[in-house]
Amino acid sequence: MKRACVLAVSAWLASAAWAQSPAPAKDERRTAAPRVVRDAALEARVDALLRRMTLEEKLGQLQQLDGEADGRFRPEHLELARAGRLGSTLNVRGAAQVNELQKAAVEGSRLKVPVLFGFDVIHGYRTVFPIPLAEAASFDPELAEATARAAAAESAAVGLKWTFAPMVDVARDPRWGRVSEGAGEDPYLGSVMARARVRGFQGDDVSREDRVIATAKHWVAYGAAEAGRDYNTTDVSERALREIHFPPFEAAVDAGVGTFMSAFNDVDGTPATANRFTLTRVLREEWGFDGFVVSDYTSVLELIKHGIAADEAEAARKALTAGVDVEMVSRTFAQRLPDLVRSGGVPVATIDQAVRRILRLKIRAGIFERPYVDAGREQTALLTPESRQLARRAAARSMVLLRNEGGLLPLRKDLRTLAVVGPLADDRKAVIGAWSGDGKAEDAVSILAGIQAALGASVPVVHAKGCEIEGGGDEGFAAAVEAAKQADAVVLVVGEAAEMSGEAASRSVIDLPGRQLDLVRAVHAAGKPTVVLLVTGRPLTFPWIAENVPAVLLAWQGGTEAGSAAADVLFGDTNPGGKLPITFPRSVGQVPIYYAHKRTGRPPAEDKWNSKYLDVPVTPQFPFGHGLSYTTFELSGLTLGGTGITASGTLPVQVTVRNTGSRAGDEVVQVYVTDVAASVTRPVKQLRAFERVSLAPGESKTLAFTLGPRDLGLLDARFRWTVEPGEFRITAATSSEGGLTEAFTLR
Ligand code: GLC
Repeated sequence: MKRACVLAVSAWLASAAWAQSPAPAKDERRTAAPRVVRDAALEARVDALLRRMTLEEKLGQLQQLDGEADGRFRPEHLELARAGRLGSTLNVRGAAQVNELQKAAVEGSRLKVPVLFGFDVIHGYRTVFPIPLAEAASFDPELAEATARAAAAESAAVGLKWTFAPMVDVARDPRWGRVSEGAGEDPYLGSVMARARVRGFQGDDVSREDRVIATAKHWVAYGAAEAGRDYNTTDVSERALREIHFPPFEAAVDAGVGTFMSAFNDVDGTPATANRFTLTRVLREEWGFDGFVVSDYTSVLELIKHGIAADEAEAARKALTAGVDVEMVSRTFAQRLPDLVRSGGVPVATIDQAVRRILRLKIRAGIFERPYVDAGREQTALLTPESRQLARRAAARSMVLLRNEGGLLPLRKDLRTLAVVGPLADDRKAVIGAWSGDGKAEDAVSILAGIQAALGASVPVVHAKGCEIEGGGDEGFAAAVEAAKQADAVVLVVGEAAEMSGEAASRSVIDLPGRQLDLVRAVHAAGKPTVVLLVTGRPLTFPWIAENVPAVLLAWQGGTEAGSAAADVLFGDTNPGGKLPITFPRSVGQVPIYYAHKRTGRPPAEDKWNSKYLDVPVTPQFPFGHGLSYTTFELSGLTLGGTGITASGTLPVQVTVRNTGSRAGDEVVQVYVTDVAASVTRPVKQLRAFERVSLAPGESKTLAFTLGPRDLGLLDARFRWTVEPGEFRITAATSSEGGLTEAFTLR
């Protein structure tokens, strides 16, 4: 039922606070960046130090070098630190290593500037939490903040003060292995998660001993790599940059993120690591970012391979003058900038600007006052029972129940026998995923172990691997089928190995690798109640399973406590409430496929002459926002506007959600906005708010959301932010498909 709601645009525009500060048009610049607040005492301290620095010492602050994989620093690092020529490291960690190298800098160098120790703590340091894509599926930013805070505490305990996270790349191509590291396809969800993770890592005071500096990466549009092939070209319009890829990064700036990392990829003809438009015009002049930018690993040197630098000197000059402050691993700044300064190719002022940004952050991080780490902390701060419990809770809340025909799940615990089959059932490395910090597979609970622990000795669990994750043949099928025949029910654990997603792990086909689908079909034919549990870092295509296996639970790569969490969900101790943060296609041929697509002039329809395929439906296997529960929910009473638009130019939205089933559970109520006709084409709908609620059987809750101009507006043809008159639709739903819709017209 649609109820037109007419709002006077004049009242709206006159009252809306946003009208005074539209985003800059394409050819307008914000002079005083709105976010920069200078602390006079800090500036004086930075200036005093800078005045004393030699050019070599300044360039030393711009240099980041990598330690050994096991955390040891390299002998050269000691010399450079003593000479004040090592600004930061990546991979050096462990109290003893950090303190020894730090001592060389702080007690051995002329100006005693401490080294900043960074590491990739993407989803946990030693306690591994679910991969970020999984955590995004929880639609629970407080959870994401909590796991980031726990990761920060563990990282700081081993001497780290900087993590190269959160990765906030919007990604809509599951062939790209790094989709696992981000928050999926949606700029709004990505922004919410970016803010939460930055808050978790940095807290309100990043100088606290259990906080680390965060990094928004990879700036920018790395997730738009053509063909889903890692490091590949991205040819993205400025509109797509501003509407899709920028928002989570701007959210990170809003949250006070300390650093950005420039990406490997070419962005519309200029590699991100030499792109003045993104690195300076947007980041500094429009957004007022006040931290520093670190390049990605040798991405400065790679400007030569990109073909936009003839040699190292040109690479250094282009990267530094575009806005990169710290060079990761390659050494073109340290080796080539002295001559460029002498020749006038690069003004000292440009170097000073970069050094200032670094010194400011080092002072704010408190490492001048507290350069060393208390070695005792790493003995007690890692893998605590509390962090394991948090990991278990996070993994369970991230799981997505994709299908549950006939209510097969949850399984009863008083089964006579349960078969657990598949190459990932007892694979502890797979469940901690890629970029797992110093997480150890041996610390992890496999799916099999979690199930065994949940059932105890009373219920025999028969395990059969069935086949390899990839490669190999079907020689293990018979034992797997036999295990199924002996059992009351079967849990088939299939998916990807850890190294099949993450960096440099693009796949052209995203089916189950190897003979796993054949194994599923063979075991399914045994005729027992069968659950497929997916361990994966990315969307996979599994149409036969989706249509034939009654229950499918997406467990992602759930981290150290993946198995315990999987058992919690499989046996109903936790009712799954996760939702897909990224579309699951039917076929890789549909990619890119995402919910916030444009309408086109020929939207899919029954007749021939419209935008669709001959061989597959245009709809996904499972849409963004999809996720089932062991109970049922109902939405009702969607109302807009209340008594009219408030002075702040906001639109109140209310909707009631009720648990209509017999079991407590969580639902994620999502609010989508549709701008029916505008001056530029708009997505069919855009997520603009959500709330995850827990409800007892029969319980209902009326949720109130507030939409403002940022939710209803758009960038017009000149990239000016505006809210245009016309018809809008607001949809409240539990997925990006379906829901309740109300219309209103801005006249
Ligand atoms: C890698 C990744 C980046 C990471 C950096 C340091 O190549 O692209 O995400 O933070 O190098 O390990």
